[in-house]
Amino acid sequence: MLFLSPDIKMNPDEFRLLRDFVYQHCGLNFTEDSKYLLEKRLGKRLQTHNLKTFKDYYYFLRYNPNKDQELTEVIDQLTTNETYFFREDFQLKTFVEDILPEVRKRKEIEGKKTLRIWSAGCSSGEEPYTIAMLLLSQPWLQSWKVEVVGTDISQRVLHMAREGVYGEASFRSTDPQQKARFFTEHEGKWRVKDEVRSLVSISHLNLFDSSRIALLGKMDLIFCRNVIIYFDQAGKKSVIENFFQRLVPDGFLLLGHSESLINLSTSFQLRHFQHDMVYQKPLTFIQSGRGLL
Ligand SMILES: C[S@@+](CC[C@H](N)C(=O)[O-])C[C@H]1O[C@@H](n2cnc3c(N)ncnc32)[C@H](O)[C@@H]1O
Repeated sequence: MLFLSPDIKMNPDEFRLLRDFVYQHCGLNFTEDSKYLLEKRLGKRLQTHNLKTFKDYYYFLRYNPNKDQELTEVIDQLTTNETYFFREDFQLKTFVEDILPEVRKRKEIEGKKTLRIWSAGCSSGEEPYTIAMLLLSQPWLQSWKVEVVGTDISQRVLHMAREGVYGEASFRSTDPQQKARFFTEHEGKWRVKDEVRSLVSISHLNLFDSSRIALLGKMDLIFCRNVIIYFDQAGKKSVIENFFQRLVPDGFLLLGHSESLINLSTSFQLRHFQHDMVYQKPLTFIQSGRGLL
């Protein structure tokens, strides 16, 4: 006989405690209508630890010796990790046809043959590997030192990114020729080839951890697509400010198609290309006492 454990209910106070706790840790913003979602997803964790109420779980997250490990589980339960290869094709066209030639010209003038790209919120790795595949298709980059840094807060998806083995759902917008060129079949799944993997490093990083972000060094381009959508206004602003600091002057910020910097930052210029609009850090900017103007 199958016994199903009854769902544990979350009262409004418990909802506020857990919502604020999650927000302070990683900026994920759950509104009042997400109570059911939090109740469902975190309810499983209460059962794992044999806890009776969400308040007990809150105290567990704050004071238990294993709280860091438990927080990893919370993040894995609450993040939305949807992604696939060659997502947002029109933007990738702009990257290859407009942005890369500009970056190439500037770097050649500076006498630097290096390119650093950050895929922030890379989920299971499809985005940084897509970027690497596009870079490998540029013969002029062969003599350059190229680095694609993929980061995410969820350990579960980072594990998948490091494995680099994917099922059909990841290929919904991949050209069969690209698939044949950059993947090998492995027990009914597809493994990213080593020439692609060698350009990509995958690390754990919370986009609200400014001191760790500073350690990444300067980036020529940042892809952060379909991530800030989950943050509130204050969270978005602080993440965008971190991106601004990481970019070299003239560096580009590529957001998802439903995301923009309206009401978030006036520090970037909006560049209109044939297929897409992209943000760029201006060559010079004025810094005030209170931050960037
Ligand atoms: C919907 S996926 C987007 C993946 C990819 N950028 C794309 O557009 O296909 C959003 C990712 O952002 C990550 N994320 C959410 N909050 C984060 C935070 N505070 N720091 C780092 N990553 C975060 C999630 O774990 C998730 O993998």
